Amino acid sequence: MYKDIIDAIGNTPLVELPTFSPKRGIRIFAKLEGHNPTGSVKDRIARAMVEQAEKDGVLTPDRTILEPTSGNTGISLAMVARRKGYRLKVVMPENVSRERIDLLTAFGAEIEFSGADQGTNGAIAIAQTMAAADSQYLMLYQYGNAANPLAHYETTGPEIIRDLPEITHFVAGLGTGGTLMGTGRRLKEYNPDIKVIAAAPQPDDHIQGLRSLEEGFVPPILDLSLLDGRIMLKGEESFRMTAELLRKESVFAGVSSGAVLATALHVAQRLDSANIVCLFADGGWKYLSTQLWTKDYATLQDAVEGTLWW
Ligand SMILES: Cc1ncc(COP(=O)(O)O)c(C=O)c1O
Repeated sequence: MYKDIIDAIGNTPLVELPTFSPKRGIRIFAKLEGHNPTGSVKDRIARAMVEQAEKDGVLTPDRTILEPTSGNTGISLAMVARRKGYRLKVVMPENVSRERIDLLTAFGAEIEFSGADQGTNGAIAIAQTMAAADSQYLMLYQYGNAANPLAHYETTGPEIIRDLPEITHFVAGLGTGGTLMGTGRRLKEYNPDIKVIAAAPQPDDHIQGLRSLEEGFVPPILDLSLLDGRIMLKGEESFRMTAELLRKESVFAGVSSGAVLATALHVAQRLDSANIVCLFADGGWKYLSTQLWTKDYATLQDAVEGTLWW
């Protein structure tokens, strides 16, 4: 029982994926962030960033929250803002899926579109210009806001330790880096031997929610020295794994979850025993229009090209 919807964020289920275990001794688990109120991991950071801004006294009822986002953070902020009575404007590339636009509109957010060809970086630049020109806007800026990793340090990390004290590896997608940094830091404090591995798109490819550092923007909250590895995948492999996840385990997750699962399986190849926790950032609902679950992947080659370890 929760006092309101914001209180119902977090405490998502950790579910084993037995059919993906490549050998005895290797167990793979998924933390299903699609079970959050708006269906993604970003509910955690939306709550944290808004409540931090309230505490700092910078978020007042006369201001409008402004955020560049490819979707999930905007939807989570829209939920938190509506519940708490704030206005929200999101800036996002015009090619994001229809479902995301409709959801944001349902929650009462205003949308400013940026050019599709400039991706998330274009949205960030436009939002920064708007915030600089008008002090009515308060940009929470998930890429540089310490409350983003802190939300994971305080909630995601402790939940995993509580549910699977014997965790050896943690794999998550790299977007802002908040999930990897906050959860990773908490896990390494608990047991320094736990490895933290990022899933990212290959430089010329695109996986919704994830970013390639090779494109030139490194989020200020990202500290690469905390990562033990980063695996770069093709979008197509992420799609195929997302489809396989539903076919083999009945788990309906978003595209970045396919990338995370593929990364976990590449990591597992090098190991004899491990308890690998994958963070699945969202559910599949927002990706239905891609038809990814009904595609034929028979001709896809093994798509992993670059594996980079520090
Ligand atoms: C679907 C999806 N997966 C993964 C991520 C990456 O999470 P983080 O920003 O914590 O690195 C995001 C973030 O935008 C996302 O929307």
